Amino acid sequence: MKKPVGIEALAIAVPRRYVDLAELARARGVDPAKYTSGLGAREMAVYDPGEDTVALAASAVSRLLRTHQVDASRIGMLVVGTETGVDHSKPVASHVQGLLKLPRTMRVYDTQHACYGGTAGLMAAAEWIASGAAAGRSAVVVCSDIARYGLNTAGEPTQGAGAVALLVSEQPDLLALDVGLNGSCSMDVYDFWRPLGRREAVVDGHYSIQCYLEALSGAYRGWRERALAHEVVRWGSTTPGEQLARILYHVPFCKMARKAHTQLRLCDLEDAPNAATTTAEAREELAKSSASYEAQVASSLSLNARVGNVYTASLYLALAGLLHAESSALAGQRLGLLSYGSGCASEFFSGVVGAQAAQRMARTDVEAVMARRERVSVEEYERLMKLPGDAPEALAPAPGEFRLAEIRDHKRRYVEGA
Ligand code: HMG
Repeated sequence: MKKPVGIEALAIAVPRRYVDLAELARARGVDPAKYTSGLGAREMAVYDPGEDTVALAASAVSRLLRTHQVDASRIGMLVVGTETGVDHSKPVASHVQGLLKLPRTMRVYDTQHACYGGTAGLMAAAEWIASGAAAGRSAVVVCSDIARYGLNTAGEPTQGAGAVALLVSEQPDLLALDVGLNGSCSMDVYDFWRPLGRREAVVDGHYSIQCYLEALSGAYRGWRERALAHEVVRWGSTTPGEQLARILYHVPFCKMARKAHTQLRLCDLEDAPNAATTTAEAREELAKSSASYEAQVASSLSLNARVGNVYTASLYLALAGLLHAESSALAGQRLGLLSYGSGCASEFFSGVVGAQAAQRMARTDVEAVMARRERVSVEEYERLMKLPGDAPEALAPAPGEFRLAEIRDHKRRYVEGA
């Protein structure tokens, strides 16, 4: 029998400040309902230059190792998925290894493909373990990013920042991955990109939504074909997608998860053996079902609605939010997960929630991390956004967290909160 592989534990890190999106809308002369209902967002994380991608990643890993009492000598791989690294050559993962004093006997690297980079790292780690090459060792995969479009842009209310650290092992207390069922879809498109040297992303916003939905369809259909062949799902009185207890999506803004879910349902309704018995209009109407969205998706979005887009970490923040809310009820049930990265690449995969998930999530305590945040005014958010990235304010990090202290001779120095 194949050994199970998947996510044993997770931890999150978020910037210490956030802005209320209804207040931001009013400051921009926009109806607050556009941000809160049209985009589905409540709050947005506001970072300062001291909370860069390295600091957020190291803070998440530090919390993961501490709260789950991970023996660092068990770790054989450290991968950081990010699209907002701090150097063209030295990986974020190498900084994290040094800051956490992790063993030298590890494979250490970053993975990049826009928001898909974290999933690329997770799959490399899971398949390394599943292949037997890990010889019993675990991997730490960190998704860490800062989503930045700039002041007064259409993308402004879809910014955010944070990190999620995942412990991947043969003891998948949170989620045992269905290794080998993944479906992928990638295309060469310019929907969202960030030319070298720019802090702000360039985006063709409405086109990026189309690319996301098209890539989702390809990835989901690929997964469904394999899942049907392995009798993980079947065509019957319910569609294959309806047989997943919950479906988690990449969440650039919460309303996108609703659009994604409609698209996934449409794939099933169009491809169902009895599709010819319904009209295209009827299928489109059925795909939009609010009941299905509420039952399968809504409960995963609580953290995303309060943090915003975290690029590589968005999907895993949804996983953290879902398991925080529902891990007891979901034990033994299968989840579907859709990762999307502009450019573009997407992957649909699945996994079964572990019996120990509730105990693991109780130790993770994401609510306590969120509760420590401080709400700032729009004026303070704008001040922080205008600070140069290489001049962090002299603030003490919270205990166990990290901050960038200075950059001297092009070398970054970080401090840890005592
Ligand atoms: P926009 O043009 O300002 O907004 O940009 P809109 O006019 O499309 O309105 C947004 C929604 O609000 C619409 O809902 C409106 O109807 C509604 P929809 O029709 O789409 O369901 N609305 C209102 N609702 C209630 N009351 C009102 C009201 N007014 C309007 N008064 C856009 C929106 C998302 C395009 C913009 O914010 C943007 O460019 N964001 C960044 C790009 C992005 O997030 N793309 C998502 C897909 S690509 C992706 O996920 C990858 C990414 O994470 C990067 C990576 O991979 O690294 C971005």
